Amino acid sequence: QGLVVMISGRGSNLLALAEACRSGRIPARIDAVICDRPGAAGLERAAELGLDRVLIDRQRHASRADFEDSLGAALDGLAPRYIILAGFMRVLSADFVDARPGRMINIHPSLLPRHRGLETHRRALEAGDREHGASVHFVTPALDGGPVISQARLDIRPGDTPDTLADRLLPLEHQLLVRTTALLMTRTVELRDGCIHVDNQAL
Ligand code: GRF
Repeated sequence: QGLVVMISGRGSNLLALAEACRSGRIPARIDAVICDRPGAAGLERAAELGLDRVLIDRQRHASRADFEDSLGAALDGLAPRYIILAGFMRVLSADFVDARPGRMINIHPSLLPRHRGLETHRRALEAGDREHGASVHFVTPALDGGPVISQARLDIRPGDTPDTLADRLLPLEHQLLVRTTALLMTRTVELRDGCIHVDNQAL
C-alpha cells in the first residue's frame, strides 16, 4: 500500500500527507519522495520526516525523454499503488502518463475545468470569479484535464489578492488531498476505463 509523492517546491501538501499516513487517516505509507529540483524546501521537509528522497534533477538531463527515463526507472523500482503529484511543476509526456493509467493524481489550485495551468489565483480574480478552489484529478495526457475526483471551494472576497487567496486555499488543499488519497487507498474510488468509479458500499 505504498505511495510516491512527487514535488518541486515547498512541500506543504507532502507534509499533510505524511502526517495523515502516520496518524492512520490514510492507510498507506510513503515509500519515497521524488523531487526534480535540488534545493527544494520540500526535500528538507522529507528529510525531517525521515522519508526516502530521490532527486531527479531536470537540469542534469539533456531532454525530457532522458528525464522521464530516470523518473520511470525510479518509479518502476518503487512500484507504488499511487503516485501523487503535490506541487510537481513539470509537464509529463503522454507516453509517461499513459504507462501508468489511473495511478497518478494531481492537486491543482483551481476549480477545474476553470483555470488549467499556472497563476490560477490571479486568473480567477481577473476573470471576476466569485468562487475559487482546488481540485484533485487523475492525471491524463491533457494538462490538468483528467477526470476530477474531488474539489474544495471558497468564496472570493472583495479585496482578495492572489496571495490572500493562496493563503486561504492552502489548508483546504491539504484537507482535500488527504481525504482523496484515503478514498483511493481504501479503494472507495478508482479510475476504470477512463471513468471514476465509486464503491457505494464503502461510502
Ligand atoms: C499547491 O498550491 C498545489 O496546488 C500546486 O502547487 C502548490 C504546492 O504547494 N500544484 P506545496 O509545495 O505542497 O506547499
